[in-house]
Amino acid sequence: MATVARSAERAEPRGTERQDLWWLEPLSIVAALGIFGVYTFLVSTANSAYFADPYLSPMYSPCLSSTCPPSERLFPFTIDFMSLSPAYFIVGLPLAFRITCYYYRRSVYRAFFSSPAACAVPDLRRRYTGETRFPFVLQNVHRYVLYTALVIIAVLWIDAIKAFSFPVTSAVSGSAGDHAARHFGIGLGTVIMVGNTLLLSFYTLGCHALRHIVGGSVDSFHRASIRFRLWSAVTQLNLHHPRWAWLSMFSVGLTDAYIRMVAAGWIADPRILF
Ligand code: FES
Repeated sequence: MATVARSAERAEPRGTERQDLWWLEPLSIVAALGIFGVYTFLVSTANSAYFADPYLSPMYSPCLSSTCPPSERLFPFTIDFMSLSPAYFIVGLPLAFRITCYYYRRSVYRAFFSSPAACAVPDLRRRYTGETRFPFVLQNVHRYVLYTALVIIAVLWIDAIKAFSFPVTSAVSGSAGDHAARHFGIGLGTVIMVGNTLLLSFYTLGCHALRHIVGGSVDSFHRASIRFRLWSAVTQLNLHHPRWAWLSMFSVGLTDAYIRMVAAGWIADPRILF
């Protein structure tokens, strides 16, 4: 019987009867992730124009290169491995966090592996093994990568707060200026950095794994009101997890591009100093 069932399964037509634009979503995902992947690789390789005082690109934060301005170094060590760009190491963790994200997994499996590409569209693969085999079994590290993502969010908030402190000697341009004398102010870059960090926080704090960490393994919330509040807050963000995933990904790219253009002197950063 099992052999007959398998033969029947093989004889199934592989097409779909759907008439709508079901292919648009997977195609958009391939395009968006492809463009972001190429952009990330190029700017990570560039290893330049990632700092326009007081703005530090999120792709180079925390600043771990020995070429980083001293004011931007949060840790007492630097990474200068074989002249490779430090962005390769810095971008690695957020990238691992996104690749293993439950939502991105669904999107990537659909868009890149057509597994399946959409509802009521046959799976391209004949056999389904889920995430039980290498390399997909590695997706289970997500809950651990989450802890590193939380540290990076804290670092990005420090960067965003620093973006309110401008060098006295460069009121308009993005040059380094005098680090000793600073002005409190708000520039377009400040707004962009705060917005980017906010979106990244919404994405990270709405993580499914974090929802389980704060609210899982509890039989009743009756005697765990703090955990219930945390779980409710994470759940609110989790409801819109796909939205935060895409918005935060685009905002990282836009923030880096803006700081890059200011650092290169292509545009002037409008700012108000107090
Ligand atoms: S599930 Fe998406 S970030 Fe954790």
